[in-house]
Amino acid sequence: MSDARSVRPASAPDAQPLDPTRIPSHIAIIMDGNGRWAAARGLHRAAGHRAGLEAVRRTLEACREIGVSILTLYAFSTENWRRPVEEVEALMHLLGEAVADEAAELAREGIQLRVSGELSSLDPWVRREVERVIDLTRENRNLILNVAYNYGGRAEIAAAVRRLARDLTAGLPLDAIDETALERYLYTAGLPDPDLLIRTGGEQRISNFLLWQIAYTELYFCDVYWPDFERTHLLDAIRDYQQRKRRFGGVEGI
Ligand code: IPE
Ligand code: IPE
Ligand code: MG
Repeated sequence: MSDARSVRPASAPDAQPLDPTRIPSHIAIIMDGNGRWAAARGLHRAAGHRAGLEAVRRTLEACREIGVSILTLYAFSTENWRRPVEEVEALMHLLGEAVADEAAELAREGIQLRVSGELSSLDPWVRREVERVIDLTRENRNLILNVAYNYGGRAEIAAAVRRLARDLTAGLPLDAIDETALERYLYTAGLPDPDLLIRTGGEQRISNFLLWQIAYTELYFCDVYWPDFERTHLLDAIRDYQQRKRRFGGVEGI
């Protein structure tokens, strides 16, 4: 999927090209800073979220070109329900609209849509649209776009334990519960852990994102607000990732 030519940044020809043998296969992004981006322009927060959608399109396209296999985007957390109702509604509407508008493009580009999060609390029309596009793109293999919506890491683990307990009552042996077994109950079942987690917007925290899955993920924080996130910022993050030595608790070179 990737070759040396396709990973050379078009916008910055002199920048160090990416190492095509060390492309992170799963990138997760905490897309933060939409509200501050809007405030800096005297706009409503919702305008920031809408502008953020353009950054999603750019990032998705760049990931396709670079050869990233999975892109997980944190779009709405279980704690984001604490925001003013108009903002929650704007975000919900934006999700439904974006999924509906992009369905044909996702299908054409061979992108599979997944959602990590509790779909049952979504507006019915948004949920229907999301489920329709998940179904439409199920067989696509070029890239998985995993949208974390109404997602909370703790809620995910609690839900997994609930389902596990149910299976125990139904006869699952206690000894069968190990890390691999628990992973099968997470929203991200079947997906490898992220290699690289990027957070935009300047904060250096996880905000309840993928608590289980990021045990050995490389973390990268950048100050740009999400709507300003360009392909070049993504390439910077990947270049930084490529300099890291991942040891997974072991010793390098052994
Ligand atoms: C991230 O941007 C998008 C969501 C959380 C939905 P914010 O809306 O958190 O923007 P800031 O952090 O207030 O600038
Ligand atoms: C994290 O951003 C959630 C998303 C990007 C969807 P927040 O803006 O909600 O995080 P905090 O409140 O600053 O920790
Ligand atoms: Mg924020």
